[in-house]
Amino acid sequence: MDVDDGDAGLELVHLLRRITGRLDLMAAEFAAANGLHPTDLRALIHLLDARREELAATPGWLSGKLALNSASVTALVDRLVRAGYVRRTRDNRDRRRVLLTVGDDAVRLGWSFYGGIITDMVDAMREFDGAELGVARRFLERMHDVVRADKPTNPVVRLVPLDEATTERLLTVAVHEARPIDVMPVPEGSDTWTPATENAFREFHRSHFHGANGTVMYAVESEGSLSGMIRLARVSQDEAETGMWLGRSARGKGIGTAALRALVAEAAAAGVRTIVADTTTGNAAALGALRTCGATLIHRGDDVRAELPIG
Ligand SMILES: CC(C)(COP(=O)(O)OP(=O)(O)OC[C@H]1O[C@@H](n2cnc3c(N)ncnc32)[C@H](O)[C@@H]1OP(=O)(O)O)[C@@H](O)C(=O)NCCC(=O)NCCS
Repeated sequence: MDVDDGDAGLELVHLLRRITGRLDLMAAEFAAANGLHPTDLRALIHLLDARREELAATPGWLSGKLALNSASVTALVDRLVRAGYVRRTRDNRDRRRVLLTVGDDAVRLGWSFYGGIITDMVDAMREFDGAELGVARRFLERMHDVVRADKPTNPVVRLVPLDEATTERLLTVAVHEARPIDVMPVPEGSDTWTPATENAFREFHRSHFHGANGTVMYAVESEGSLSGMIRLARVSQDEAETGMWLGRSARGKGIGTAALRALVAEAAAAGVRTIVADTTTGNAAALGALRTCGATLIHRGDDVRAELPIG
């Protein structure tokens, strides 16, 4: 079957629409039967995903996921807290931050909705061999990319200071979506991923855990996935330097600009007055992100120094 012949492509689009439509209807019926608003159920599912992926969920993160303003999210979280599904707790690392955690009741509720359908779907997948499932995965990921790219680009990002576990997740992104030279200093001529460059990546990032050597490295998290890294390197009492990289599939969607904005907030809280960055005239995306965040660009031949005042 060829999508350019007849309506084969369109038929697949209709099938996808039927599946999502049916799932939406099931979710609405299930929410009503349990005294929940459909959006409350969507919120619970995002929070359950966050729990499974060990992500810290905040009200801001949830409002990005649901495309709701903060007043609506506050009311929604109040309802879920009253129903006993969600708890508000303080982040131990940052006492100003409120975290949303789901309790066992929510896990049971989620399982009673999805458990049956997941089991049935996995059973039905046994009709396909590994190669066919590989194609199905590639197809679905590609379709997911399309609907994601359609969304307005105002992504919500979270900066996660690196530790062992996050560094491993970041390494996976780097290996699949970037070159070693994009993500760390590498000796000339060794710009491919090998077990040795992967270890060099681990060592390089470990050497900055907990702000060691004056540099804090953050994984950039967007929509629950890691997209890349941004760093804040203290140069003096008032000044810090930054640099960042994103995996190829995350570029050009506003994530770099959003990460830089989040870094400016971190820097302001740490008393930094100016952030500087070095790039080149050819790096339109880096220049665009810096300019949008308010940097002055100073050109010296092909080199560009950006100075971003804070406060
Ligand atoms: C540089 C980088 C971090 C920017 O992040 P990003 O998420 O891709 O950038 P954004 O989507 O936020 O876009 C920032 C601006 O650049 C523009 N832009 C993005 N990609 C572009 C491209 N390929 N060509 C031209 N302009 C581009 C955007 O339109 C936006 O400009 P605007 O604010 O005026 O609309 C990312 O592209 C990257 O990782 N590149 C490879 C590594 C790298 O070069 N790091 C920087 C070293 S200094």
